[in-house]
Amino acid sequence: MLPAGVIADGFDLLFLLLSIMLPSRDPMMTSSKERQRMKKNYRIAVIPGDGTGPEVVREGIKALEAAAKRFDFTLDFQTFDVGGDRYLKTGEILPDSVLEELRAFDAIYLGAIGHPDVKPGVLEKGILLRVRFELDQYINLRPVKLYPGVDTPLKDKTAADIDYVVVRENSGGLYTGLGGISRKGTKDEVAVQSMLYTYTQVERCLRFAYEYTKRRNARNTLALCGKTNVLTYVYDLWERVFHDMGKQDYPNIKRDYYHVDATCMWMVKNPEWFDVIVTGNMFGDIITDLGAITQGGMGIAAGGNINPDGVSMFEPIGGSAPKYTGKNMINPLAAICAGQMMLDILGEQKAAAAIENAVMNVTAERLKGMGAGRMGYSTSEVGDMVAELVAGV
Ligand code: IPM
Ligand code: MN
Repeated sequence: MLPAGVIADGFDLLFLLLSIMLPSRDPMMTSSKERQRMKKNYRIAVIPGDGTGPEVVREGIKALEAAAKRFDFTLDFQTFDVGGDRYLKTGEILPDSVLEELRAFDAIYLGAIGHPDVKPGVLEKGILLRVRFELDQYINLRPVKLYPGVDTPLKDKTAADIDYVVVRENSGGLYTGLGGISRKGTKDEVAVQSMLYTYTQVERCLRFAYEYTKRRNARNTLALCGKTNVLTYVYDLWERVFHDMGKQDYPNIKRDYYHVDATCMWMVKNPEWFDVIVTGNMFGDIITDLGAITQGGMGIAAGGNINPDGVSMFEPIGGSAPKYTGKNMINPLAAICAGQMMLDILGEQKAAAAIENAVMNVTAERLKGMGAGRMGYSTSEVGDMVAELVAGV
């Protein structure tokens, strides 16, 4: 008799049957079975979302699967139907049950949120911001990197000049949603929207930024982007903690400070000055769109909403591009790069690097442009090219 626990799953059962049927036990089978057991598996929640989201996510998954196969881990994808179509059909935005399920995954892979038939704000706040807040993804990591062969609107700047990362605080500030309107519709109407930061929110964001700068080990320079000349409360807090923490714990990291308006200017004029920029939520939102256009636009810019101790969510930072939906024209590289960031954060650095190298190869050698319909290839062709290069065959 076999002990009952031996038959744990279908794989074990199959193996048992084979080993009984075969004349002698093959030692190779045992070892490959053990290897199979030891393989790391990651559970990924996929939210394809609206517009072109599903198309770009499909290509991202091709690259992720190729990387998993080559670097010997497995990815278990589970798709969630969340977005504008579900809302229009059922009135549900992000059911609590879905949010609870999401907590159990290793990461979330998101396509795009935003639907032309839904009032702006409903889905963005109800899905994207809700996930960020509820899962406490307090960092929004947005690399600004010009890949080889990609056009930048910045005159005379090359890949050597544009390579930095923005650490956008992702849980507070103006996004907290505190405020209100009184005497609406009259000339005495008052509208308030408060920029709110706690010491803890500022501290944990700066800690992440310093640690990230240290690990990146490029120019070892962290720049705080603020507005200490006007927002004399909130950015006073940021500036104090920034310098105290830097002096005390990171003496080898150079500290720079720029007002947000000047940051925009230097991101255009001298992007090579930057290594890592850390900033609050609203400024981070604005400067990362500027950063994205300098790296070739929304077709290539990716980001990660990170909870270093929890479940993080990775997304192309562009929107749902409704006019290109279903046309197989949209650039999937931003979604593919979001997948690369996801693997990096999950600890699969080699696999992440393979995806990035494949993307760089494709931008340098193959694509004519980054815009939708201007790549010289379709969405799925670009995805196939990247996946093939990642597979390394
Ligand atoms: C982004 C987007 C979101 C933001 C919107 C859609 C709520 O612009 O991810 O940058 O403001 O954070
Ligand atoms: Mn934005």
